[in-house]
Amino acid sequence: MPFSLAGKTIVITGAAGGVGSETARACAELGAELVLTDLVEPDALINELREKGTKVRFSAFDVRDRGSVEAFMSNIGHVDALVANAGYCPWDDWNDPDWDDVFQTTIGINAMGVVNFVRPGLEKMIKQGAGRIVIVSSVAGRMGGLKASPHYVIAKAGLHGLVKWLARRGASRGVLVNAVAPGATATNMVQGQVFSEASIPLGRQANPREIALPIAFLCSDAASYICGTILDVNGGVYMN
Ligand SMILES: NC(=O)c1ccc[n+]([C@@H]2O[C@H](COP(=O)([O-])OP(=O)(O)OC[C@H]3O[C@@H](n4cnc5c(N)ncnc54)[C@H](O)[C@@H]3O)[C@@H](O)[C@H]2O)c1
Repeated sequence: MPFSLAGKTIVITGAAGGVGSETARACAELGAELVLTDLVEPDALINELREKGTKVRFSAFDVRDRGSVEAFMSNIGHVDALVANAGYCPWDDWNDPDWDDVFQTTIGINAMGVVNFVRPGLEKMIKQGAGRIVIVSSVAGRMGGLKASPHYVIAKAGLHGLVKWLARRGASRGVLVNAVAPGATATNMVQGQVFSEASIPLGRQANPREIALPIAFLCSDAASYICGTILDVNGGVYMN
């Protein structure tokens, strides 16, 4: 069963959100034990997963808080896969008077928030001799996005460089690092935004499960020869 996640412990950040909660459900369906984080505990999701027999732990903190992230990562024991999914996308204009402050927040969550997790995550997995890291980036980091503001584009494009940096350090030690680059996906993040269907070759937004399943695949033994890849799950908006 190369696609199974049975016996694996998977950390998912941003687990209360659209993609994060579907990733938790997909990984649980495939047999994983889950360690979830977000700003606020998603009670309904956790109850739902536990009722189905999945082992779930949860901790609430801000991904920008390096001390909290490091304490969390050192307390959770063995980790087979880390899904760095938490993200923030303000739909503002770079001429807005407070845009420079929003820039810092956006870089803080989308870039530093990922660094805070992968730094102890890579070290832990190298010690274990095995592990997977999946970073949730964005098609915006590939081609500038359909509507995203530059702070988000800069952060997500930076993650694509980081994936390769991490993958080169992890590969020979059994740690495989990859990213998934979603396009417009029906979650709270894009609520109120209108995307032209004509700009998406598949002609529609993704539903979050369509992002979650490729993430789960990258955590599985079936992805054992995928290293340093950015997997485009964006309906053909970016064709590699
Ligand atoms: N929805 C899309 O169209 C889309 C497209 C491309 C990429 N993405 C990426 O997918 C990932 C998941 O986004 P989503 O669509 O599920 O959005 P979402 O808003 O539903 O979920 C994002 C989650 O991240 C959490 N989060 C935000 N800031 C945080 C912080 N400082 N500390 C801890 N947690 C924090 C939120 O609480 C939320 O639960 C993000 O990285 C996003 O950039 C989304």
